[in-house]
Amino acid sequence: MNLADNKTPGPIGVFDSGYGGLTILDGIRSMMPEYDYIYLGDNARTPYGTRSFEVVYEFTLQAVKRLFEMGCHLIILGCNTASAKALRSIQQLDLPHLAPERRVLGVIRPTVEALGSFTRNGHVGIFGTPGTIRSNSYNLEIAKLYPNFVTTGQECPLWVPLVENKEFNSPGADYFVKKYIANLLERDAEIDTVLLGCTHYPLLLNKIREHMPPNVKIVTQGNIVAKSLRNYIDRHPEMEQRISKHGSIKYFTTENAEKFSEMGSVFLSQQIQAQSISL
Ligand code: DGL
Repeated sequence: MNLADNKTPGPIGVFDSGYGGLTILDGIRSMMPEYDYIYLGDNARTPYGTRSFEVVYEFTLQAVKRLFEMGCHLIILGCNTASAKALRSIQQLDLPHLAPERRVLGVIRPTVEALGSFTRNGHVGIFGTPGTIRSNSYNLEIAKLYPNFVTTGQECPLWVPLVENKEFNSPGADYFVKKYIANLLERDAEIDTVLLGCTHYPLLLNKIREHMPPNVKIVTQGNIVAKSLRNYIDRHPEMEQRISKHGSIKYFTTENAEKFSEMGSVFLSQQIQAQSISL
């Protein structure tokens, strides 16, 4: 790995398996527009949600190394699946010898910390990809912070493909939105808070709201992750100095750049221009 030097400030890197992390980037950038950002989507190999631990780890590590080479000192894995399956290994096994002064942060821990302020009765539902739900990462993190909570995970394997295929507003989406909500609430009827634990799901928010009982709160991650990152940067002034500040943003994808630009513009509700890279 050819690391740019450790002193020159660089952009914050945001990584996702595809488009989903754009909903995280959007939250972060609205709160901290002064910083520079690089977004990297591994669209050529998405989805990660159905892949094994080993493969998600290997792909995510390649992306992290590439973002380091592009000058990032701070990287957010804006993907629940990568945070669940790769973050800990990267932090514990790779960073110490690759780049001990650089940081890679995930989305699960900050989300769980915030969950406590939403639920009143401690019955929480988590919607996620099969990878995230089967990793049990949310259950384990929630049990550490809130041992009395009852957490129920619901795999939603069809929600990412619905979003990826721009079907999130179509009548076809209603069937799978209703189905997964019903599956979850059948298993715990007392749930008062659900987390959209996949960065693609905010695009289905209108439909999820429509089919969810009105007493159930729906929590999305963009704002939560942004607040937590702001807090992290405030507590680490040495890292703040290593973030460049021109308010710029660059988008990179491992797929076709035009395809990414078109779909990314849907996620962000604004026109973007991406560049293609290989990992
Ligand atoms: N964006 C990913 C997440 O938050 C899901 C997409 C995928 O399966 O790759 O889990």
